[in-house]
Amino acid sequence: MYLFQQQQFIIIIFIAFVQVSSAFWWSLSLPSFQLWTSTQNDQETFCSSLTFLTLQQRYLCQTSPKIFSIISRSLRQAIEECQYQFRNQRWNCSIFNQSDIFGKLILRKTPETAFIYALTSASVMHSIAKACAKGEITECGCDKSQPSPTSPLSSTSTSPIRARTMLKYQTSSIPSMSISLFPSSSSPPQSPQPMDGFEWGGCSDDLKFGRNISTSFIDEQESFVTRRRIVRMVNLHNNEAGRQAVERNVQLTCKCHGVSGSCTLRVCWRTLPDFRLIGSELRTKYASATQIRLNRRLGLLKPRKNSMKLFNTTDLIYIHNSPSFCEKNLRLGSLGTQGRECNLTMNEPGSCSVLCCDRGYETIISTIEEDCECQFHWCCEVRCKRCIKRVEKHFCK
Ligand SMILES: *[C@@H]1O[C@H](CO)[C@@H](O)[C@H](O)[C@H]1NC(C)=O
Ligand SMILES: *[C@@H]1O[C@H](CO)[C@@H](O)[C@H](O)[C@H]1NC(C)=O
Ligand SMILES: *[C@@H]1O[C@H](CO)[C@@H](O)[C@H](O)[C@H]1NC(C)=O
Ligand SMILES: *[C@@H]1O[C@H](CO)[C@@H](O)[C@H](O)[C@H]1NC(C)=O
Ligand SMILES: *[C@@H]1O[C@H](CO)[C@@H](O)[C@H](O)[C@H]1NC(C)=O
Repeated sequence: MYLFQQQQFIIIIFIAFVQVSSAFWWSLSLPSFQLWTSTQNDQETFCSSLTFLTLQQRYLCQTSPKIFSIISRSLRQAIEECQYQFRNQRWNCSIFNQSDIFGKLILRKTPETAFIYALTSASVMHSIAKACAKGEITECGCDKSQPSPTSPLSSTSTSPIRARTMLKYQTSSIPSMSISLFPSSSSPPQSPQPMDGFEWGGCSDDLKFGRNISTSFIDEQESFVTRRRIVRMVNLHNNEAGRQAVERNVQLTCKCHGVSGSCTLRVCWRTLPDFRLIGSELRTKYASATQIRLNRRLGLLKPRKNSMKLFNTTDLIYIHNSPSFCEKNLRLGSLGTQGRECNLTMNEPGSCSVLCCDRGYETIISTIEEDCECQFHWCCEVRCKRCIKRVEKHFCK
């Protein structure tokens, strides 16, 4: 009964919320959606109330509630990762409000928007692929396909992968170690030669299924929501760059079999690393994003100026330059940096001089009481003194 009431309550939140919403599916990352469980029978009411989704997205919500809830979870993961990666920057990936997650920023195709798109599609793919291997989704499972000798990870991608493949020995008797099959990640893709005693087995993350869901859930809406051709092309490009970042980070995890810790047989499978790694890689791509224009005659995106860096499918691209993010300007999706805590260390990302845009900072001194000079007394007690500590904090004017 309690559960039932809670679900009714959630529906009411959804409906109230949807009425003020401005058609952005990132709203699925909101905590209220995380609470949604896929076991109730009024899934249909719930899904059709999500008017900010396209018909096809709502269809997925109805037919595969579990996949839908993982997508919602993965959007939360993407936003948390974005806030982590940009915690010391003027733009810190902050959430505007419940109905307008990233504010107007998302309407301008800046490098920040490119990063959000890539990170989101990567996160959906990553979460789905992992959930498949964990057995959380009935429509998929372990990726059993065995890479062909010429293309070790061909089942996961249509594009050549600079695989950074690792071997990890997971048995406790053998110290954990990893071996890079490709010593330099900049070398051209080669097939990893199966090492002695290496066999495919275990349960590989299902990247193919993850890619399919990410593509059909995210890319598909571009044709509905986005009218301008160049914007659509840029969004799709960055979505794909995100998925390729996932594929580039596939690792090989292995387990040893053999008597008393010997490793006569190694069984290996493909795994995805922590999402942090993919976030960091996309953060690097953000820093070297290319500004583009559309060559209408050829229907191709080109660097804005001939002198600009060329780009390929792994790079992020953008149309508009970023605002400075120094001042509050809601029209540009900037909250400004006033009131942000900053660091006195010079020339660091979070330093007061950079973060406060030369407006200066205020210092607030406070005292905190804490345990100190703790000593261990035989046996078994730790005794501490209480000390007063002075803490200085700096905030942008
Ligand atoms: C959310 O923020 C936007 C500005 O980005 C504003 O127009 C809108 O009214 C706000 N909505 C709510 C519910 O506060
Ligand atoms: C996803 O898989 C389904 C079923 O295999 C297929 O019909 C569909 O075209 C795929 N979608 C994409 C975007 O790859
Ligand atoms: C794409 O360009 C990056 C440099 O921006 C380069 O490191 C990478 O190898 C290129 N990838 C492909 C598949 O050409
Ligand atoms: C990000 O910046 C905004 C505005 O400057 C601030 O209100 C918010 O607390 C910051 N968020 C984080 C996670 O630091
Ligand atoms: C300031 O910098 C130090 C050292 O880099 C770091 O440990 C600390 O967390 C930073 N403080 C803030 C508020 O960013």
